Amino acid sequence: MKTLLQIRTSMFSAGGQSSQLSQQFVDEWRTANPDGQVITRDIGAQPVPHLTAERFQAFLAKPEARTPEQQAVAGYSDALIDEVRQADVIVLGLPMYNFGVPSTLKAYFDHIARAGVTFKYTEKGPKGLVTGKKVYVFAARGGLYAGTPLDTETSYVRDFLSFLGMDDVEFVYAEGLAMGDAPKNAALAKARDSIQRLAHPLAAAA
Ligand SMILES: Cc1cc2nc3c(=O)[nH]c(=O)nc-3n(C[C@H](O)[C@H](O)[C@H](O)COP(=O)(O)O)c2cc1C
Repeated sequence: MKTLLQIRTSMFSAGGQSSQLSQQFVDEWRTANPDGQVITRDIGAQPVPHLTAERFQAFLAKPEARTPEQQAVAGYSDALIDEVRQADVIVLGLPMYNFGVPSTLKAYFDHIARAGVTFKYTEKGPKGLVTGKKVYVFAARGGLYAGTPLDTETSYVRDFLSFLGMDDVEFVYAEGLAMGDAPKNAALAKARDSIQRLAHPLAAAA
């Protein structure tokens, strides 16, 4: 049985454009994988807290030495990591807020990057321990940034996922969503078309 992890990061939860595009892909995937399991992690609705020194200390503490509070923090991080580990396919909705990723996504990344758990240091540098995943990212932006130096989101997300061992990452962009109805509708239609092709690659090639 295949598992898909859907991560919503829009502050508008399922109503965000990035969430709606992601949902289209998830629906197509469900149809193609009727026995598949979908896990939804909505960090727009339930934000991941900022990483603090106390929380980080909980990660570092030996499991048997953790206080009850540290156990709760480490357990929360472990649960987020388990979802990622379980997934064959990860679908990430990615809004752009003030030139970057939603702060709760940064906090989520801070909670799944754990030395000795999701990556390790070796003589040749860091090595990601979360491998064998296919990741789809559905990025929604008010302006036009893809392919320009202002798009720091794409390289940041790609680099972070690669650091954990996830190198097979595909981005779909819906841009210009704040530039009027016609550009917005055209961008969404183009993104929806790309999603169809990603979800049904063989049909698209025929
Ligand atoms: C607080 C806020 C900040 C935003 N900042 C940017 C920005 O820096 N650049 C941009 O192109 N669009 C920006 N937008 C527009 C969003 O990228 C756009 O609304 C997109 O649909 C957000 O994804 P979502 O609908 O999934 O939440 C911003 C929107 C909000 C609400």
